[in-house]
Amino acid sequence: MRTSRPGRSRLPVAAAVILSATLFPAVAQHRLHNQAEDQTQTRPWMNTKLSPDKRAEMVLKEMTLDEKISLLHGNGMPGWGKPRPNAYLGNGGAGFVLGIPRLGIPMIQMSDAAYGVRSSAENGRYSTALPSNVASAASWDTQAACEYGALIGRELRAQGYNMTLGGGVNITREPRNGRTFEYLGEDPILAGTLVGNRIKCEQGQHVIGDIKHYAVNDQESGRNEVDSIIGKRAMRESDLLAFEIGLETGNPGAVMCSYNATNGDFACENKYLLTDVLKTDWNFKGFVLSDWGGTHSTVKASAAGLDHEEPLDDFFGDKLKEAAQAGKVPMAEIDDHARRMLRSEFLSGIVDHPAQKSVVDVEGGFNTSRRIAEQSIVLLKNENNVLPLDPRKVRSIAIIGPHADEGMISGGGSAQVDPPGRPPAGWQAHVWFPTSPLKAVSARTPGANVPFDSGAKPESAAALAKQCDIAIVFAYQWTSEGMDLPNLSLPERQDALIEQVAAANPRTIVVLETGTAVTMPWIDKVSGVVEAWYAGSKGADAVANILFGSVNPSAKLPMTFPRSEADLPHPQLVAPPPKAHGAAPVAPRGEAKPTFSVHYDEGLKVGYKWYDAEDKPVLFPFGFGLSYTTYSYSDLKIKPGREPAVHFTVKNTGSRAGAEIAEVYAALPPTAGEPPKRLVGWSKVPLNAGESKEVSVTIPPKYLSIYDEAQDQWKLVPGTYTFMVGGSSKDLPLKQPVDLQ
Ligand code: BGC
Repeated sequence: MRTSRPGRSRLPVAAAVILSATLFPAVAQHRLHNQAEDQTQTRPWMNTKLSPDKRAEMVLKEMTLDEKISLLHGNGMPGWGKPRPNAYLGNGGAGFVLGIPRLGIPMIQMSDAAYGVRSSAENGRYSTALPSNVASAASWDTQAACEYGALIGRELRAQGYNMTLGGGVNITREPRNGRTFEYLGEDPILAGTLVGNRIKCEQGQHVIGDIKHYAVNDQESGRNEVDSIIGKRAMRESDLLAFEIGLETGNPGAVMCSYNATNGDFACENKYLLTDVLKTDWNFKGFVLSDWGGTHSTVKASAAGLDHEEPLDDFFGDKLKEAAQAGKVPMAEIDDHARRMLRSEFLSGIVDHPAQKSVVDVEGGFNTSRRIAEQSIVLLKNENNVLPLDPRKVRSIAIIGPHADEGMISGGGSAQVDPPGRPPAGWQAHVWFPTSPLKAVSARTPGANVPFDSGAKPESAAALAKQCDIAIVFAYQWTSEGMDLPNLSLPERQDALIEQVAAANPRTIVVLETGTAVTMPWIDKVSGVVEAWYAGSKGADAVANILFGSVNPSAKLPMTFPRSEADLPHPQLVAPPPKAHGAAPVAPRGEAKPTFSVHYDEGLKVGYKWYDAEDKPVLFPFGFGLSYTTYSYSDLKIKPGREPAVHFTVKNTGSRAGAEIAEVYAALPPTAGEPPKRLVGWSKVPLNAGESKEVSVTIPPKYLSIYDEAQDQWKLVPGTYTFMVGGSSKDLPLKQPVDLQ
């Protein structure tokens, strides 16, 4: 099949249109209008007044079998096997789908874009690195999620992409999962709401939105061969609920099925996940694409509901065509796959608003990234109000930590965003963004002495700390796709470094740059702890704004920080069986079977629900985060009904302005058989010093329901529901029972 090279061949036309639009706006408008009219005469599906469904149906009728099949597989990814003859048509991203020029259907150019647009576009590209996804979840802020998505959407288009592969929302069942930084924490309602808002605004920029990795892909160890065993009710109320809410809120064009198997079948050929739940129960009308190399069959996968294979055509190219011609795959099924692809193209607007390469707004990106980081940094400990630092009083600050002079760490794997001006980073390289904590802190305290020590020799770092008023240790934990952490300890003997520095100077503050929870054996010895996560392109400025109080911290943990791995539902990470000598180290690709299983027998008890139910103390609870002011809660009133409304008052009782994330939990009636409580809503409340506000949070019925396995539906159990309100899952001063029928 032949296609033109869209980027190049269309460029002169595009340039002419821009030029004439600039010089003769009225003439250009008129001409464009006429062109659009002509188009709809020859291609009636170009009529933007028609619904995406109608438009897709009209195009589908015109298509040959070969054209349909061409929509159902990718055409390669740089570095993935031998390049294909049409590889030059790609934009350097993870995948691309051929267009159908005779029908006006554009190519789909996909790029990874978890916390920014991934590397390797063929034009000298630049992207903003936002704070990691789990960081953004700590903001609990739907508006910030929207800005996050919109920025990525704009930068994708500027680099010639029209589909994102971001939107990770696997909930944190296993905090050692190396991709925890790409996801949104342990609560399905928080994670689903935030991913949905991100997708809504990302897709609003006219790129096809994506949510991934569907489903129960909760660890990286053996991800291509593991079978996640989990009960239906537990799955629907936890892992799948995050997707359900994300889909409802964001309406993405695509869902990426995951590498692992779930209850026996690989996710990309799992009829229960793809057809029964996603396409039937949730009425998803977009397309399902496989994770890269996650397709294992033709007939089975197609029948189960996989629409599109990436990155190549091992199963959904010639094999699918032959199967269709032989009647093993019904033509109606091929049509359904193709229709879904087309519908998402119309829905997202990539047909009507083709992406055009342009220059990224670097300064705008920096500002957004910094603002979101400021809302994401969690203040975990602040003994004797060691923070905020007063630049007029502090005379010396020791900055300690590997790379703290140079930059801040980012998360690896396909999420990796390249730092500006450096060659594309390897898949699992440690990448330090050029945002220097040393410089940012020095800039705040021009009159003070701000010496640096890498911490390579803890004695010398401790000696430096002893001479200074304050010591700040920037500690890091690097994580990446393709691997899990062996434990939750800081690597490179940083625990010992912190112990020694804290012994030398009691006014020691630890700034954590981590992708997930860490254990803190030194917690009682330091004065302050700040969780900065992977803080993005402007992380150091954001951290300095928090340390010096130009921003009052408001973020809250979207995941529990346990005291030790021994307290996790699975104290030992379940790893794949050792490979036979000489066997490939990764992935059974192609036709394969899972080789081992992880039994998620903690079921519904994910994150805080586990610690609550098992009565285990934690280091820092879900929903926890300090501020430089204080808040009080009062006047709880519940208006029962189909969607109960929870009213209460929050007051800023301190002396500076801030924003309180007020959290609402519910304990279900005992007959529901649920963990002690679940998050059912929240509100981020900005408050000036002394100000109080009445807050109202409406709870959708599903958030109070359980999944009834026997009936295969959500059910509200009649009985007494206790609503609890406060500033953390472990600090809920307001409490009131109500009967709901
Ligand atoms: C990852 C996906 C990613 C894809 C393309 C896979 O290894 O699991 O999240 O989108 O690669 O890079």
